Amino acid sequence: MAEYVLQMVDITKQFGAFTAVDSVSINLKKGEVLTLLGENGAGKSTLMNVLCGLYHPTHGKIFINGSEAAISSPASAVSNGIGMVHQHFMLVEAFTVFQNIVMGTTADRSFVIDEKKLRKEIQELSDKYGLNIEFDKKITEISVGAQQRVEILKILWRGAEILILDEPTAVLTDEETVGLFQIIRKLTAEGKSVIFISHKMREVMEISDKITVLRAGKVVENFERGAADEQTLANTMVGRQMVESTYEKVKSADVPILVSKNVNYNKSSKHNGLNNVSFEIRRGEIYGVAGVDGNGQSELAALVTGLIQPDDGELDLKGLHVGLFDPGNFIAQNVSHIPEDRNKMGLVCDMTIKENLILKAETSPEFSQLHGWKLDQKAIKNHSNKMRIKYDIRCRTTDQLVSQLSGGNQQKVILAREMERKPDLLIAVHPIRGLDIGAAQFIHDQLIQARDAGCAILLISTDLAEVLLISDRISVMYEGRMIGEFDGANPPMDKIALALSGQQ
Ligand SMILES: Nc1ncnc2c1ncn2[C@@H]1O[C@H](COP(=O)(O)OP(=O)(O)OP(=O)(O)O)[C@@H](O)[C@H]1O
Ligand SMILES: [Mg+2]
Repeated sequence: MAEYVLQMVDITKQFGAFTAVDSVSINLKKGEVLTLLGENGAGKSTLMNVLCGLYHPTHGKIFINGSEAAISSPASAVSNGIGMVHQHFMLVEAFTVFQNIVMGTTADRSFVIDEKKLRKEIQELSDKYGLNIEFDKKITEISVGAQQRVEILKILWRGAEILILDEPTAVLTDEETVGLFQIIRKLTAEGKSVIFISHKMREVMEISDKITVLRAGKVVENFERGAADEQTLANTMVGRQMVESTYEKVKSADVPILVSKNVNYNKSSKHNGLNNVSFEIRRGEIYGVAGVDGNGQSELAALVTGLIQPDDGELDLKGLHVGLFDPGNFIAQNVSHIPEDRNKMGLVCDMTIKENLILKAETSPEFSQLHGWKLDQKAIKNHSNKMRIKYDIRCRTTDQLVSQLSGGNQQKVILAREMERKPDLLIAVHPIRGLDIGAAQFIHDQLIQARDAGCAILLISTDLAEVLLISDRISVMYEGRMIGEFDGANPPMDKIALALSGQQ
């Protein structure tokens, strides 16, 4: 029996002249959890895409159970027992869970499939690892956490012995993360091995047997479990001493920018509605909304960006009734939006970084000539280069497609575009999701600066630590209602904890 189930030896991956992964070696034993840690763009996903057969390495070898494996395609990775849950899920939304699981396998292609037998088989597998999956629901009908469990079941059913989970917890609630970790522990107890990627240090400390830190495509350090604390990991990752920030809280007495009075939307729904929601956000303050995902936060964000309209109640923006405004009207009123789902709403992935940075502003005098008829390419280029430096967007040139950026760097493009418009109101939903800790800190600094320059900010985040860190006032959403309103300078933790579970 070979000592390692997996060895990646001296792997290099270049895109043109750019080296995304540079002579990286990793080892994995049976039953181990290896974590890859690194800044946005460090090469984590690229290395894993090599392992799962999506990219051919420019150089290097892969050994499975001691023998060299030729992983030339995703299919050959699967036959070598490798399965990957990607940073952005790859499920077909219009299909059911069951269809997604069997899709593309021989069971799907053969004419006579014994569906009953298949279902039984997959159900047994699901039960064994406690995946708790409803086969006949459409992907759109299940939660993000459930979608992830479908991805896991899909690769397990294809025979994965090595599971790659690329930032699986970025979109999960704390509770779902606990559930995922239980699944990971069951998998490793059964002798499966896991490669885990996350930017959340506490999780990394909890789940990893060992940690490999990458920086700019190279391995900078390997740690065994317990050999490094959170601070050491963070410092190693960014290559400098990280100092945690603290921010002064303010009490804005300025004019209200956004006022919601008794707004209802689909109010009978506990998960997708708003029930008698009232609040106001003033110029120069950050209003933080905490809460477990799926308690109406998506609807709140949709309401204040014009994507949905209130059933009743009143919504005012800068003194205007905006109940019937569409998204274009909100943009015209200088409202910026960092959306929940960057791939669906924030970016046009097959456009360049440069183009994405000026979306919504292409006809502004800053970027156009002849009264909006012709784009001023030079101005656009200059602006995008400035943004690239300021927001540390890791790319070769801003003429690259956004789809070529790493997950976190895509998020930085949205942040740069939405924050640089100098909005009167900024709706920031999970602004640091997918960002490494250095980038997250930079964005928090920027939000505070925007606040101090007079911007009204509505922060919606499931990350309570983030809400506590930067909010001047705090509210909690539970089953479509806003519960309590707390002082951000002295947040009453006991009351907030109660509010999170629906108690006043
Ligand atoms: N298809 C591609 N063409 C060109 N460059 C690419 C391509 N895919 C990735 N890159 C570049 O390779 C580098 C590494 O990207 P990768 O996605 O591996 O980063 P990551 O460590 O996963 O970051 P994140 O934490 O943001 O997800 C980035 O600079 C990225 O722009
Ligand atoms: Mg990645």
